[in-house]
Amino acid sequence: MSGNDGSGVRRGSAKTRREFLTSAAAVTAAGGMASLLPLGCEQPKSKMGQGALAPMLDDVSGSRSLRAHGAARGLLVGCAVNPDHLDGEPEYARTVAEQASIVVPENAMKWAALRPNPTQYDFRRADDVVVFALSHEQKVRGHNLCWHEAIPAWFAGTVTKENAAQYLTQHIQTVAGRYAGKLHSWDVVNEAIELKDGRPDGLRNSPWLELMGPSYIELAFRTAREADGTALLTYNDYGIELDTQEQIDKRGQVMMLVRRMQARGVPIDAVGIQSHLSAGDAPGAGLIHFIRELRAMNLQVFITEMDVNDRKLPEPVAERDAGVAKTYRDYLTPVLAEPNVTAALTWGITDRYTWLNGLPHASRADGKPERPLPFDYDYNPTPAFFAERDAIDGRTAQALPGANPYAPFHPTQPQRPQFE
Ligand code: XIL
Repeated sequence: MSGNDGSGVRRGSAKTRREFLTSAAAVTAAGGMASLLPLGCEQPKSKMGQGALAPMLDDVSGSRSLRAHGAARGLLVGCAVNPDHLDGEPEYARTVAEQASIVVPENAMKWAALRPNPTQYDFRRADDVVVFALSHEQKVRGHNLCWHEAIPAWFAGTVTKENAAQYLTQHIQTVAGRYAGKLHSWDVVNEAIELKDGRPDGLRNSPWLELMGPSYIELAFRTAREADGTALLTYNDYGIELDTQEQIDKRGQVMMLVRRMQARGVPIDAVGIQSHLSAGDAPGAGLIHFIRELRAMNLQVFITEMDVNDRKLPEPVAERDAGVAKTYRDYLTPVLAEPNVTAALTWGITDRYTWLNGLPHASRADGKPERPLPFDYDYNPTPAFFAERDAIDGRTAQALPGANPYAPFHPTQPQRPQFE
């Protein structure tokens, strides 16, 4: 870890990770691997305060889980996770372990989380996610190496036109290098297109663009490939899901960006479609055409951050849940039927921690908490859970040429990875 004097930080974190592993093992022992049990033999979910029958009726564990249904159809299924809850809330950890075959840290691998100051890295929470995932036979997405948000406060006065390429390169070498060989994929560049910024190439006026010009994208991908030869390198963006004119135009700019990259031999393996939707949204033919075009370019597609806000729906929970579930079904059924769509993740697992309820200008007018995810506040599966699972079931697994994303998970790393 050259240029990283954060060894004190990492030494200090060892105890935390050991304690954490102990709790992760307890989760496994408590039924996290119930997916190995044959249908009908799953342990019923035990939940405080429920009638005796209720856990049986809504049993979504083991072979009824999202991860089991995904495995049967060659699809990785999962969610964004927060290491604080993985460590501190057994029901959260149990649900993630049971439902996900792939996880992504919601915030813990962003610059602002990893970079307390210009010279040190704090990997403790990011490591916690990787350790949890590997001990539950889950894959991990890295998110993200280069974004216009989650930039630490010290950045503005420190990173300049003269040294920006060096900062970006060192960050990617250090972060992608640390997890090399352990990650399924990296969101190398996140949200680089913004049509409102008015450039012919559609690129966003991000700090990276202002400091380095468009070449930052190529530098980020090439450096990521050098640092980690196995993670699938991904360009990730939002607002490209629907067939509104605005989203058609943005999707076109994403396609042109990816085409330019391929023409220049820039290593890219996948496109991430975030999929932050509103109830009532449905994909048009354009999205499916886009996914097929990417397939012809030998690129995989990941649904990276799905959730469905219920802002436009009336207050009664049953109506909101039905509207959200319909949107999950209408969106995921055609999308997951595409064979190069190889992973689908929601942005969180439980409504208890959805980022949507923390957004100041984008919440419900009546102030009610939103219900955008497959599990509700109390970890009961929502109608969206069943819509997602049905959409997975509608898929036919097919092998892709090259790297086989359908291969069963065979841990090649020790249970507790050695990051040092
Ligand atoms: C969000 C997190 O969910 C929030 O907790 C955080 O405050 C801001 O970022 N697109 C992305 C994600 O790529 O990283 C964002 O995550 C949501 C939008």
